[in-house]
Amino acid sequence: MSPGPDRADRPSPPDEWRRVAAAVADRERFVSATISGARRGAHPPAERVTLRPVELRAGLHLQVSTFDGDTTDVANVAFDAASDRVIDLLGSGYASMYVRTLDGDLQLRHSKKGAPHVTRHRPSTDHVDTSHDRRKPRLLDPEAPFLTAVGADRAKRRQVERFLEILTHTWPDEWGPPLRVVDLGCGSGVLTMATHHLLREVAPGSTTLGIDTKAALMERLTGVVADLGWDDIELRVGTIADADLGPRAPDLVLALHACDTATDDALARAIEADARVILAAPCCQHDLQAQLDRAPPGLDPLVRHGIVRERLGDLLTDTLRAEILRAHGYRTDVIEFVSTEHTAKNLLIRAVRRDRRDPVDADAGATAARELAAAWGVEPALARRVGFGGPDPPG
Ligand SMILES: C[S@@+](CC[C@H](N)C(=O)[O-])C[C@H]1O[C@@H](n2cnc3c(N)ncnc32)[C@H](O)[C@@H]1O
Repeated sequence: MSPGPDRADRPSPPDEWRRVAAAVADRERFVSATISGARRGAHPPAERVTLRPVELRAGLHLQVSTFDGDTTDVANVAFDAASDRVIDLLGSGYASMYVRTLDGDLQLRHSKKGAPHVTRHRPSTDHVDTSHDRRKPRLLDPEAPFLTAVGADRAKRRQVERFLEILTHTWPDEWGPPLRVVDLGCGSGVLTMATHHLLREVAPGSTTLGIDTKAALMERLTGVVADLGWDDIELRVGTIADADLGPRAPDLVLALHACDTATDDALARAIEADARVILAAPCCQHDLQAQLDRAPPGLDPLVRHGIVRERLGDLLTDTLRAEILRAHGYRTDVIEFVSTEHTAKNLLIRAVRRDRRDPVDADAGATAARELAAAWGVEPALARRVGFGGPDPPG
Protein backbone atom coordinates (compact mmCIF):
# COMPACT_ATOMS: atom_id res chain seq x y z
CA MET A 1 0.00 0.00 0.00
CA SER A 2 1.30 3.44 -0.77
CA PRO A 3 1.70 5.53 2.37
CA GLY A 4 0.07 8.50 0.61
CA PRO A 5 1.44 12.01 0.86
CA ASP A 6 4.79 12.52 2.54
CA ARG A 7 4.35 12.08 6.29
CA ALA A 8 6.01 15.45 6.86
CA ASP A 9 3.28 17.17 4.77
CA ARG A 10 0.44 15.65 6.75
CA PRO A 11 -1.26 17.22 9.73
CA SER A 12 -0.23 15.59 12.98
CA PRO A 13 -2.34 12.47 13.63
CA PRO A 14 -4.96 12.66 16.40
CA ASP A 15 -4.04 11.33 19.86
CA GLU A 16 -6.53 8.45 19.43
CA TRP A 17 -4.65 7.20 16.36
CA ARG A 18 -1.35 7.49 18.20
CA ARG A 19 -2.81 5.52 21.09
CA VAL A 20 -3.83 2.55 18.93
CA ALA A 21 -0.58 2.81 16.92
CA ALA A 22 1.42 2.67 20.17
CA ALA A 23 -0.53 -0.42 21.24
CA VAL A 24 0.38 -2.14 17.96
CA ALA A 25 4.03 -1.08 18.29
CA ASP A 26 4.39 -2.73 21.71
CA ARG A 27 6.62 -5.73 20.97
CA GLU A 28 5.75 -7.57 24.17
CA ARG A 29 2.01 -6.93 24.55
CA PHE A 30 0.51 -6.57 21.05
CA VAL A 31 -1.59 -9.56 19.93
CA SER A 32 -3.44 -8.58 16.74
CA ALA A 33 -5.49 -5.82 15.13
CA THR A 34 -8.14 -5.38 12.45
CA ILE A 35 -8.75 -2.20 10.49
CA SER A 36 -11.92 -1.88 8.42
CA GLY A 37 -14.82 0.27 7.24
CA ALA A 38 -14.59 3.65 5.56
CA ARG A 39 -14.96 7.08 7.08
CA ARG A 40 -17.62 9.20 5.48
CA GLY A 41 -16.50 10.27 2.00
CA ALA A 42 -13.24 8.27 2.24
CA HIS A 43 -12.14 5.40 0.03
CA PRO A 44 -9.55 3.30 1.81
CA PRO A 45 -7.63 1.03 -0.55
CA ALA A 46 -8.95 -2.32 0.73
CA GLU A 47 -11.91 -3.75 2.58
CA ARG A 48 -10.01 -4.89 5.64
CA VAL A 49 -6.46 -5.10 6.96
CA THR A 50 -5.34 -7.39 9.78
CA LEU A 51 -2.08 -7.00 11.64
CA ARG A 52 -0.22 -9.40 13.88
CA PRO A 53 3.34 -9.87 15.09
CA VAL A 54 5.26 -12.65 13.41
CA GLU A 55 8.67 -13.99 14.37
CA LEU A 56 10.79 -14.54 11.25
CA ARG A 57 14.41 -15.55 10.93
CA ALA A 58 15.22 -11.87 10.45
CA GLY A 59 13.50 -10.95 13.72
CA LEU A 60 10.07 -9.72 14.77
CA HIS A 61 7.94 -8.37 11.91
CA LEU A 62 4.46 -6.99 11.54
CA GLN A 63 2.37 -9.19 9.28
CA VAL A 64 -0.04 -7.06 7.25
CA SER A 65 -2.87 -9.02 5.59
CA THR A 66 -4.88 -6.92 3.17
CA PHE A 67 -8.26 -8.26 2.05
CA ASP A 68 -9.65 -6.53 -1.05
CA GLY A 69 -13.03 -8.26 -1.01
CA ASP A 70 -11.85 -11.32 -2.91
CA THR A 71 -8.27 -12.14 -2.08
CA THR A 72 -5.85 -11.54 0.76
CA ASP A 73 -2.40 -10.14 0.15
CA VAL A 74 0.10 -10.81 2.95
CA ALA A 75 3.26 -8.74 3.54
CA ASN A 76 5.69 -8.66 6.45
CA VAL A 77 7.15 -5.29 7.40
CA ALA A 78 9.87 -4.48 9.93
CA PHE A 79 8.31 -4.21 13.38
CA ASP A 80 9.97 -0.83 13.95
CA ALA A 81 7.70 0.55 11.23
CA ALA A 82 4.52 -0.74 12.95
CA SER A 83 3.39 2.57 14.40
CA ASP A 84 3.94 4.49 11.15
CA ARG A 85 2.13 1.76 9.22
CA VAL A 86 -0.93 2.09 11.46
CA ILE A 87 -0.97 5.88 11.11
CA ASP A 88 -0.66 5.53 7.32
CA LEU A 89 -3.50 3.03 7.20
CA LEU A 90 -5.79 5.20 9.32
CA GLY A 91 -4.81 8.19 7.21
CA SER A 92 -6.08 6.36 4.13
CA GLY A 93 -9.67 6.58 5.36
CA TYR A 94 -10.53 3.51 7.45
CA ALA A 95 -13.26 4.02 10.04
CA SER A 96 -12.62 1.36 12.69
CA MET A 97 -9.81 -0.47 14.29
CA TYR A 98 -9.81 -3.16 16.95
CA VAL A 99 -6.51 -3.85 18.72
CA ARG A 100 -5.98 -6.82 21.02
CA THR A 101 -3.21 -6.59 23.58
CA LEU A 102 -2.39 -8.59 26.67
CA ASP A 103 -3.41 -5.61 28.82
CA GLY A 104 -6.79 -5.05 27.21
CA ASP A 105 -8.43 -4.43 23.85
CA LEU A 106 -8.79 -1.00 22.24
CA GLN A 107 -11.57 -0.13 19.83
CA LEU A 108 -11.16 2.95 17.64
CA ARG A 109 -14.19 4.37 15.88
CA HIS A 110 -14.89 7.61 14.04
CA SER A 111 -18.09 9.59 14.34
CA LYS A 112 -20.02 10.63 11.24
CA LYS A 113 -18.11 13.92 11.38
CA GLY A 114 -14.84 11.99 11.50
CA ALA A 115 -14.02 12.51 15.18
CA PRO A 116 -11.99 9.56 16.56
CA HIS A 117 -12.99 7.84 19.76
CA VAL A 118 -11.27 4.98 21.59
CA THR A 119 -12.96 2.57 24.00
CA ARG A 120 -11.24 0.00 26.12
CA HIS A 121 -12.38 -3.60 26.68
CA ARG A 122 -11.21 -6.48 28.81
CA PRO A 123 -8.35 -8.44 27.21
CA SER A 124 -9.78 -11.09 24.90
CA THR A 125 -6.71 -13.29 25.09
CA ASP A 126 -3.87 -14.03 27.47
CA HIS A 127 -1.16 -14.99 24.99
CA VAL A 128 0.63 -13.71 21.89
CA ASP A 129 1.14 -16.11 19.00
CA THR A 130 4.05 -14.96 16.83
CA SER A 131 4.50 -18.26 15.02
CA HIS A 132 4.78 -18.06 11.28
CA ASP A 133 2.44 -21.04 10.78
CA ARG A 134 -0.28 -20.49 13.26
CA ARG A 135 -1.80 -23.46 15.03
CA LYS A 136 -5.55 -23.61 14.78
CA PRO A 137 -7.26 -23.31 18.15
CA ARG A 138 -8.82 -26.55 19.32
CA LEU A 139 -12.43 -26.14 18.40
CA LEU A 140 -14.19 -28.61 20.59
CA ASP A 141 -13.08 -30.19 23.80
CA PRO A 142 -14.76 -33.62 23.70
CA GLU A 143 -15.04 -33.40 27.48
CA ALA A 144 -16.85 -30.05 27.39
CA PRO A 145 -19.56 -30.35 30.06
CA PHE A 146 -22.23 -28.79 27.84
CA LEU A 147 -22.03 -31.77 25.44
CA THR A 148 -22.96 -34.17 28.20
CA ALA A 149 -25.51 -31.77 29.66
CA VAL A 150 -27.47 -31.65 26.38
CA GLY A 151 -26.91 -35.32 25.62
CA ALA A 152 -25.11 -34.83 22.28
CA ASP A 153 -24.57 -38.21 20.61
CA ARG A 154 -21.68 -39.00 18.25
CA ALA A 155 -23.45 -37.77 15.13
CA LYS A 156 -24.37 -34.50 16.83
CA ARG A 157 -20.80 -34.07 18.08
CA ARG A 158 -19.53 -34.49 14.51
CA GLN A 159 -22.04 -31.91 13.34
CA VAL A 160 -20.92 -29.56 16.12
CA GLU A 161 -17.27 -29.94 15.11
CA ARG A 162 -18.02 -29.29 11.47
CA PHE A 163 -20.14 -26.30 12.37
CA LEU A 164 -17.42 -24.75 14.53
CA GLU A 165 -14.91 -25.35 11.76
CA ILE A 166 -17.14 -23.49 9.29
CA LEU A 167 -17.75 -20.70 11.80
CA THR A 168 -14.06 -20.13 12.46
CA HIS A 169 -13.23 -20.17 8.76
CA THR A 170 -16.05 -17.79 8.02
CA TRP A 171 -15.36 -15.21 10.69
CA PRO A 172 -14.10 -12.12 8.86
CA ASP A 173 -11.75 -10.81 11.57
CA GLU A 174 -9.63 -11.83 14.41
CA TRP A 175 -11.98 -12.71 17.23
CA GLY A 176 -12.01 -9.82 19.61
CA PRO A 177 -14.81 -7.54 20.64
CA PRO A 178 -17.54 -9.39 22.49
CA LEU A 179 -20.06 -10.61 19.96
CA ARG A 180 -23.83 -10.74 19.97
CA VAL A 181 -25.18 -14.05 18.65
CA VAL A 182 -28.81 -14.79 17.88
CA ASP A 183 -29.89 -18.36 17.12
CA LEU A 184 -33.33 -18.46 15.52
CA GLY A 185 -35.06 -21.81 15.94
CA CYS A 186 -32.37 -23.03 18.33
CA GLY A 187 -34.24 -26.25 19.20
CA SER A 188 -32.30 -28.53 21.51
CA GLY A 189 -29.60 -25.86 21.65
CA VAL A 190 -26.55 -28.02 20.96
CA LEU A 191 -25.23 -25.75 18.20
CA THR A 192 -26.23 -22.64 20.15
CA MET A 193 -24.24 -23.82 23.12
CA ALA A 194 -21.31 -24.98 20.99
CA THR A 195 -21.08 -21.50 19.45
CA HIS A 196 -21.32 -19.89 22.85
CA HIS A 197 -18.73 -22.28 24.27
CA LEU A 198 -16.26 -21.24 21.53
CA LEU A 199 -16.98 -17.53 21.95
CA ARG A 200 -16.50 -17.67 25.70
CA GLU A 201 -12.93 -18.58 24.89
CA VAL A 202 -12.14 -16.47 21.83
CA ALA A 203 -14.33 -13.42 22.42
CA PRO A 204 -15.07 -13.24 26.16
CA GLY A 205 -18.09 -11.19 27.10
CA SER A 206 -20.06 -12.39 24.06
CA THR A 207 -23.78 -12.86 24.60
CA THR A 208 -26.15 -15.33 22.95
CA LEU A 209 -29.89 -15.32 22.51
CA GLY A 210 -31.65 -18.51 21.44
CA ILE A 211 -35.27 -18.38 20.30
CA ASP A 212 -37.68 -21.23 19.72
CA THR A 213 -41.42 -21.76 19.88
CA LYS A 214 -41.04 -24.86 22.06
CA ALA A 215 -41.56 -23.70 25.64
CA ALA A 216 -40.63 -27.01 27.27
CA LEU A 217 -37.32 -27.12 25.36
CA MET A 218 -36.46 -23.55 26.30
CA GLU A 219 -37.27 -24.23 29.94
CA ARG A 220 -35.03 -27.30 29.99
CA LEU A 221 -32.20 -25.46 28.25
CA THR A 222 -32.48 -22.53 30.63
CA GLY A 223 -31.88 -25.02 33.43
CA VAL A 224 -28.90 -26.53 31.60
CA VAL A 225 -27.16 -23.16 31.09
CA ALA A 226 -27.88 -22.18 34.70
CA ASP A 227 -26.24 -25.42 35.86
CA LEU A 228 -23.22 -24.61 33.68
CA GLY A 229 -23.05 -21.17 35.27
CA TRP A 230 -23.44 -19.44 31.89
CA ASP A 231 -25.26 -16.20 32.66
CA ASP A 232 -24.50 -14.68 29.25
CA ILE A 233 -26.87 -16.87 27.24
CA GLU A 234 -30.62 -16.42 27.16
CA LEU A 235 -33.19 -18.90 25.86
CA ARG A 236 -36.50 -17.34 24.98
CA VAL A 237 -39.83 -18.76 23.85
CA GLY A 238 -41.20 -17.05 20.76
CA THR A 239 -41.48 -17.04 17.01
CA ILE A 240 -38.68 -15.94 14.75
CA ALA A 241 -40.91 -13.42 13.01
CA ASP A 242 -41.82 -11.62 16.25
CA ALA A 243 -38.61 -11.95 18.22
CA ASP A 244 -36.96 -8.86 19.64
CA LEU A 245 -33.35 -9.29 18.52
CA GLY A 246 -32.02 -6.64 20.87
CA PRO A 247 -30.82 -3.07 20.62
CA ARG A 248 -27.82 -3.55 18.36
CA ALA A 249 -27.18 -5.40 15.10
CA PRO A 250 -26.28 -9.01 15.88
CA ASP A 251 -22.79 -10.02 14.82
CA LEU A 252 -23.91 -13.53 14.02
CA VAL A 253 -27.35 -14.89 13.21
CA LEU A 254 -27.85 -18.65 13.07
CA ALA A 255 -30.82 -20.40 11.51
CA LEU A 256 -29.97 -24.08 11.55
CA HIS A 257 -32.57 -26.48 10.25
CA ALA A 258 -35.44 -24.14 11.07
CA CYS A 259 -38.47 -25.68 9.41
CA ASP A 260 -39.59 -24.67 5.90
CA THR A 261 -40.12 -20.91 5.60
CA ALA A 262 -38.94 -20.32 9.19
CA THR A 263 -35.54 -20.10 7.48
CA ASP A 264 -36.90 -17.25 5.36
CA ASP A 265 -38.27 -15.54 8.46
CA ALA A 266 -34.81 -15.84 9.99
CA LEU A 267 -32.99 -14.55 6.91
CA ALA A 268 -35.40 -11.63 6.63
CA ARG A 269 -34.89 -10.75 10.31
CA ALA A 270 -31.12 -11.00 9.91
CA ILE A 271 -31.15 -8.73 6.83
CA GLU A 272 -33.40 -6.17 8.56
CA ALA A 273 -31.19 -6.24 11.66
CA ASP A 274 -28.09 -5.77 9.49
CA ALA A 275 -26.44 -8.88 10.93
CA ARG A 276 -22.79 -9.14 10.10
CA VAL A 277 -22.61 -12.89 9.48
CA ILE A 278 -25.50 -15.26 8.78
CA LEU A 279 -25.24 -19.04 8.76
CA ALA A 280 -28.41 -20.80 7.66
CA ALA A 281 -28.84 -24.53 7.13
CA PRO A 282 -32.19 -24.94 5.41
CA CYS A 283 -34.51 -27.75 6.38
CA CYS A 284 -37.59 -28.79 4.43
CA GLN A 285 -38.54 -26.46 1.57
CA HIS A 286 -42.22 -26.74 0.67
CA ASP A 287 -42.82 -23.18 -0.44
CA LEU A 288 -41.45 -23.40 -3.98
CA GLN A 289 -42.33 -27.03 -4.50
CA ALA A 290 -45.98 -26.02 -4.34
CA GLN A 291 -45.37 -23.29 -6.92
CA LEU A 292 -43.32 -25.35 -9.38
CA ASP A 293 -45.97 -26.28 -11.90
CA ARG A 294 -44.28 -25.09 -15.06
CA ALA A 295 -40.75 -25.04 -16.33
CA PRO A 296 -38.87 -22.74 -18.70
CA PRO A 297 -38.88 -23.94 -22.33
CA GLY A 298 -37.05 -27.24 -22.76
CA LEU A 299 -36.89 -28.04 -19.02
CA ASP A 300 -40.28 -29.74 -18.58
CA PRO A 301 -38.84 -33.11 -17.45
CA LEU A 302 -37.47 -31.37 -14.35
CA VAL A 303 -40.99 -30.83 -12.99
CA ARG A 304 -42.49 -34.10 -14.23
CA HIS A 305 -41.10 -36.51 -11.63
CA GLY A 306 -42.06 -35.91 -8.01
CA ILE A 307 -38.66 -36.54 -6.44
CA VAL A 308 -36.83 -34.49 -9.09
CA ARG A 309 -39.29 -31.62 -8.69
CA GLU A 310 -38.78 -31.76 -4.94
CA ARG A 311 -35.00 -31.56 -5.21
CA LEU A 312 -35.24 -28.88 -7.84
CA GLY A 313 -37.48 -26.93 -5.45
CA ASP A 314 -34.83 -27.24 -2.72
CA LEU A 315 -32.04 -26.07 -4.99
CA LEU A 316 -34.03 -23.19 -6.42
CA THR A 317 -35.08 -22.08 -2.93
CA ASP A 318 -31.54 -21.98 -1.60
CA THR A 319 -30.07 -20.43 -4.74
CA LEU A 320 -32.69 -17.69 -4.61
CA ARG A 321 -32.01 -17.13 -0.91
CA ALA A 322 -28.29 -16.76 -1.61
CA GLU A 323 -28.90 -14.27 -4.44
CA ILE A 324 -31.36 -12.22 -2.38
CA LEU A 325 -28.79 -12.02 0.42
CA ARG A 326 -26.22 -10.91 -2.15
CA ALA A 327 -28.67 -8.24 -3.34
CA HIS A 328 -28.69 -6.96 0.24
CA GLY A 329 -24.95 -6.45 0.46
CA TYR A 330 -23.78 -9.89 1.58
CA ARG A 331 -20.98 -11.95 0.14
CA THR A 332 -22.71 -15.33 -0.04
CA ASP A 333 -21.92 -18.90 -0.82
CA VAL A 334 -23.62 -22.24 -0.40
CA ILE A 335 -21.46 -24.99 1.07
CA GLU A 336 -21.79 -28.52 2.38
CA PHE A 337 -22.60 -28.59 6.08
CA VAL A 338 -22.33 -32.21 7.13
CA SER A 339 -21.78 -35.00 4.66
CA THR A 340 -24.89 -36.54 3.07
CA GLU A 341 -23.91 -39.73 4.86
CA HIS A 342 -25.40 -38.15 8.00
CA THR A 343 -28.34 -36.21 6.62
CA ALA A 344 -29.84 -35.25 3.28
CA LYS A 345 -30.29 -31.71 4.66
CA ASN A 346 -26.67 -30.85 4.24
CA LEU A 347 -26.43 -27.39 2.70
CA LEU A 348 -25.40 -24.29 4.51
CA ILE A 349 -25.94 -20.77 3.24
CA ARG A 350 -23.15 -18.55 4.43
CA ALA A 351 -23.50 -14.78 4.16
CA VAL A 352 -20.98 -12.20 5.32
CA ARG A 353 -22.00 -8.55 5.10
CA ARG A 354 -19.56 -6.56 3.03
CA ASP A 355 -17.80 -3.87 5.05
CA ARG A 356 -18.16 -1.63 2.07
CA ARG A 357 -21.13 -1.53 -0.27
CA ASP A 358 -20.57 -3.08 -3.68
CA PRO A 359 -23.51 -1.82 -5.75
CA VAL A 360 -22.42 -3.80 -8.82
CA ASP A 361 -22.47 -7.10 -6.94
CA ALA A 362 -25.73 -6.21 -5.18
CA ASP A 363 -27.38 -5.36 -8.51
CA ALA A 364 -26.06 -8.59 -10.01
CA GLY A 365 -27.61 -10.53 -7.10
CA ALA A 366 -30.92 -8.71 -7.47
CA THR A 367 -31.02 -9.34 -11.22
CA ALA A 368 -30.07 -13.01 -10.82
CA ALA A 369 -32.79 -13.55 -8.20
CA ARG A 370 -35.46 -11.82 -10.29
CA GLU A 371 -34.53 -13.59 -13.51
CA LEU A 372 -34.35 -17.00 -11.86
CA ALA A 373 -37.70 -16.53 -10.09
CA ALA A 374 -39.31 -15.22 -13.29
CA ALA A 375 -37.94 -18.09 -15.39
CA TRP A 376 -39.55 -20.65 -13.09
CA GLY A 377 -42.68 -18.58 -12.38
CA VAL A 378 -42.14 -18.61 -8.61
CA GLU A 379 -42.16 -16.06 -5.84
CA PRO A 380 -39.87 -17.20 -3.02
CA ALA A 381 -40.92 -16.61 0.59
CA LEU A 382 -37.80 -14.57 1.33
CA ALA A 383 -38.63 -12.18 -1.51
CA ARG A 384 -42.06 -11.64 0.04
CA ARG A 385 -40.55 -11.16 3.51
CA VAL A 386 -38.05 -8.50 2.45
CA GLY A 387 -40.36 -6.81 -0.06
CA PHE A 388 -38.12 -7.82 -2.93
CA GLY A 389 -39.50 -8.64 -6.34
CA GLY A 390 -40.57 -5.34 -7.85
CA PRO A 391 -38.87 -3.91 -10.89
CA ASP A 392 -36.11 -2.01 -9.06
CA PRO A 393 -33.19 -3.62 -7.23
CA PRO A 394 -33.12 -2.77 -3.51
CA GLY A 395 -31.27 0.49 -2.76
C1 LIG B 1 -35.01 -29.19 13.39
S1 LIG B 1 -34.97 -28.16 14.77
C2 LIG B 1 -33.32 -27.56 14.67
C3 LIG B 1 -32.74 -27.12 15.96
C4 LIG B 1 -31.33 -26.57 15.96
N1 LIG B 1 -31.26 -25.29 15.29
C5 LIG B 1 -30.35 -27.54 15.34
O1 LIG B 1 -29.95 -27.36 14.19
O2 LIG B 1 -29.98 -28.51 16.00
C6 LIG B 1 -35.92 -26.78 14.25
C7 LIG B 1 -36.38 -25.90 15.39
O3 LIG B 1 -36.91 -24.71 14.84
C8 LIG B 1 -38.03 -24.33 15.64
N2 LIG B 1 -38.88 -23.45 14.84
C9 LIG B 1 -39.48 -23.75 13.66
N3 LIG B 1 -40.19 -22.70 13.22
C10 LIG B 1 -40.00 -21.71 14.11
C11 LIG B 1 -40.47 -20.37 14.21
N4 LIG B 1 -41.22 -19.83 13.24
N5 LIG B 1 -40.10 -19.63 15.28
C12 LIG B 1 -39.31 -20.17 16.25
N6 LIG B 1 -38.84 -21.43 16.21
C13 LIG B 1 -39.17 -22.20 15.16
C14 LIG B 1 -38.67 -25.64 16.01
O4 LIG B 1 -39.48 -25.51 17.17
C15 LIG B 1 -37.47 -26.54 16.21
O5 LIG B 1 -37.09 -26.59 17.56
